[in-house]
Amino acid sequence: MTSESLSEQHKKLGRAVTSLISEYAERLESAPVASPATPADLKRLFDEPLPLAGMPAEEILEQFARDVAPHAMQISSPRYFGQFNPTPLAIGVWADALCSALNQNAGAWRNGPTSALIEAQVIGWLCDLIGYGPGAFGVLASGGSEANLIALKCARDKAARDMCDLGVRAAGADLTIYASEQCHFSVEKSVDILGLGRKSLRKIDTDERFHIRVNLLREAIEKDRSDGRVPFCIVGIAGATSTGVIDPLPELAAIARENDCWFHVDAAYGGGLAFSDNQKKKLSGIELANSITFDPHKWMFVPFSCGTTLVRDGGNVLRDSFDISPEYLSEDRGGSDVQYDFFRYGQMGTRRFNALKLWMAFKFMGKRGYAETVERHLELTRHFADRLDELPDFERVGEIETAVCCFRYLPEHVRGLAPEDQDRAQQALQQRIEKSGRAFFPSTILQGRRALRVNINSYLTERRHVDDLVELLREEGNALGVDR
Ligand SMILES: Cc1ncc(COP(=O)(O)O)c(C=O)c1O
Repeated sequence: MTSESLSEQHKKLGRAVTSLISEYAERLESAPVASPATPADLKRLFDEPLPLAGMPAEEILEQFARDVAPHAMQISSPRYFGQFNPTPLAIGVWADALCSALNQNAGAWRNGPTSALIEAQVIGWLCDLIGYGPGAFGVLASGGSEANLIALKCARDKAARDMCDLGVRAAGADLTIYASEQCHFSVEKSVDILGLGRKSLRKIDTDERFHIRVNLLREAIEKDRSDGRVPFCIVGIAGATSTGVIDPLPELAAIARENDCWFHVDAAYGGGLAFSDNQKKKLSGIELANSITFDPHKWMFVPFSCGTTLVRDGGNVLRDSFDISPEYLSEDRGGSDVQYDFFRYGQMGTRRFNALKLWMAFKFMGKRGYAETVERHLELTRHFADRLDELPDFERVGEIETAVCCFRYLPEHVRGLAPEDQDRAQQALQQRIEKSGRAFFPSTILQGRRALRVNINSYLTERRHVDDLVELLREEGNALGVDR
């Protein structure tokens, strides 16, 4: 293979893939949102022996078009109201192709010079947006889970000297961390990975609007202290996974300060509110956090995967926790290049040039483009909630603070059932709608009870899609009542 023939291959494949992608986009409006195929069905499609001889790229793409794309979850559909998984921007999709073509190793500066500087730039933009001062820094992560892990490692390592060398025994007592019972599961996973044990996480109850109850938080901290434990970190949520609500960040910041705790805000989803001058006030207090998780692959429409950890007090905080200099990456060039070695700021070694798609997305959308989209999503969610309020068989649960609306299907005959049967009715309705292929949304559990959860997350979603969803809920709800 010569570079000329490689260039020819790119041309040929590029044309074929461009058609596949644009045809895929064209079908988004009408394609079923979820495939009815079971894992067994899909296993039959892909169960082949290890290929011994290579095959032409055209045939591989044919199989992609026939077997892969149609059974994919159509996350990009305007009728996908699922987890925080938005339609990726076209510029982000193609930025991914460019990223793969350049194949920069965004770990050490020397292996990805432009990548490193662009990563520093986009991190700077995010810090600015969120209201951090000029000394703040950060690092791109694979997503919110890894971003939380990175932040909580910084928190752990600040709790006692020599933590990196000696592990948690350096603290001399059990470290405890606090978050609302609505926190993302990655917080619990992180404390496990960090050697603190899952039981070091105190899950604090929430009020009827699903915000952390600060009086209970204070009580838990006091109790732990009197039992000889060391509270070291408080996590606030800005855009909770199930409800989208935002914890009272200024109060949490004050409690963290009083108790000498690290304050981390998980704004993986809700960070997007910062684009809108009208909505940003909901995030008030976030700038007081020692660290923030903000996922561009959520409300910024950057294709997976792209998360960030931002730290208020600069890159040294991350380097204190993560920096190790392997001999093969330790040449001193006498400049500031080490400052751009992103492998020193997190856990990954070889890293993808993910900053490219984020940089392009920022430029393509601009702050205004993002603000308009975020505000439109909030309006559509409000519209959905208002329409739902007109239906006697549905009851909303909690508040709308972002583009998430939770509710329950509670017609007369379900209201009279035992709680577990009411929960089953929610799942039955969710399943009917998923199987219909006409929309997708998940169910969740809120304070022990099953609820339905809709998130407006695609920039393709319009009012008519939301109205169709309301109609679908009504129809399938009625059909469920008849079938019982
Ligand atoms: C609030 C919050 N934090 C963290 C995460 C984890 O993000 P990821 O799935 O990108 O790892 C999520 C995922 O939905 C989330 O909602």
